[in-house]
Amino acid sequence: MRFDILTIFPGMFEGPLSESILGRAREAGHISVHLHDLRDWAHDRHRTVDDYPFGGGAGMVMKPEPLFEAIEAITAQDAVPPYRVFLTPQGRRLDRALVTDLAGHERLLLICGRYEGIDERVLEHAVDLEVSIGDFVVSGGELPAMLLLDAVARQVPGVLGSEGSLEEESFDHGLLEYPQYTRPAEYRGLSVPEVLLSGNHAAIEAWRRVQRIERTSARRPDLLPIADLTPQERAALEGDPGFAQRRVGDTIFQVRVAAVAIHEGRVLLHRTAGDSIWSLPGGRLRVGERVEDAVRRELREEAGMKAEPGEVLWVDEAFAEWRSAIDGPGRGEVLLHHEIGVYVAATVPERFTRRDTFRGAELAGTPDEFALEFRWVASADLDALDVRPTRIVPALRGQMAGL
Ligand SMILES: C[S@@+](CC[C@H](N)C(=O)[O-])C[C@H]1O[C@@H](n2cnc3c(N)ncnc32)[C@H](O)[C@@H]1O
Repeated sequence: MRFDILTIFPGMFEGPLSESILGRAREAGHISVHLHDLRDWAHDRHRTVDDYPFGGGAGMVMKPEPLFEAIEAITAQDAVPPYRVFLTPQGRRLDRALVTDLAGHERLLLICGRYEGIDERVLEHAVDLEVSIGDFVVSGGELPAMLLLDAVARQVPGVLGSEGSLEEESFDHGLLEYPQYTRPAEYRGLSVPEVLLSGNHAAIEAWRRVQRIERTSARRPDLLPIADLTPQERAALEGDPGFAQRRVGDTIFQVRVAAVAIHEGRVLLHRTAGDSIWSLPGGRLRVGERVEDAVRRELREEAGMKAEPGEVLWVDEAFAEWRSAIDGPGRGEVLLHHEIGVYVAATVPERFTRRDTFRGAELAGTPDEFALEFRWVASADLDALDVRPTRIVPALRGQMAGL
């Protein structure tokens, strides 16, 4: 693929074009880059390319004559005419789809503006597309042109060492990439997700897929409508992203996991000031996540502790219930959200043996009237607490199996 760049600062490109991937791609002949100094087409001995704007106003404008003539002369340098791109904050925003389109051209001419921009007649008659790198203004089109060139060159076959590197990269199929880790497996007490050390490739693939979907849902929900998701994944995201949930009629069933910490024959529960019981800590089962993995993650993320979850202690069918109008497909529908609490036994370290009460203000995002009490009780006394025992109805058991 051939790139031509028209600029008054060709020297700016030397470093970025000679190093690393772009440098190697040029050496190997996958791409060629031709730099053109606009001043070579200036008409006076001062090599002037700008002038005052008609109608007054601050700054200078790039003159039409050198631009028209340069674009024509550069076009004639090769049998393939270039697709002519002007970099401007007023252009179409560069994204993955546009990068892919641009990579479909054999030849691109990138025109870099300076000052207040270029004479509008050039845009109307000698430019095919105006492209912006984002909703902010930089001092010239050179850095935007470098970004565009780098992004497009990565799509050219052979530029990236292994073709696979493009796949699963952020924005591939409309999803962000999964989190990455490398050795050591444990550093300053920070460990990497166990599944990545398991050697189980299917489990790793599944984990990465869920991570991609969750990240995209949390950070770039705007990408989700175009993301390449299976109907099941889309259904799981519908309504409240990041929850394991399934819609049946006008009810959304959501699963909430909670670990019940068990230490030396005693059980740690925490409860709200209201009438519902939570264990420590409560959390959401993520899309595609096993209950036990969710408990490990929740304990690590919320309480900073390592836990070995054991058996499911009880399932609370109506952990919480509320109605909401849903935004998204079926916009405006009023749906019943039905939370199912899954309580799992977890063995935790000694430091969680104390009793504690937290006021809402101490817990980020928790309303003030809220209080959590962490209370150890002998496991034999469980019945004495107002914990509702397993009362899962058969119909729900079927729903849960599919979640
Ligand atoms: C200081 S800017 C001129 C901005 C112009 N006066 C306006 O408000 O639209 C000078 C040049 O930098 C380049 N430039 C600045 N921001 C850009 C962006 N977000 N994307 C692409 N090019 C940009 C363009 O080539 C532009 O002509």
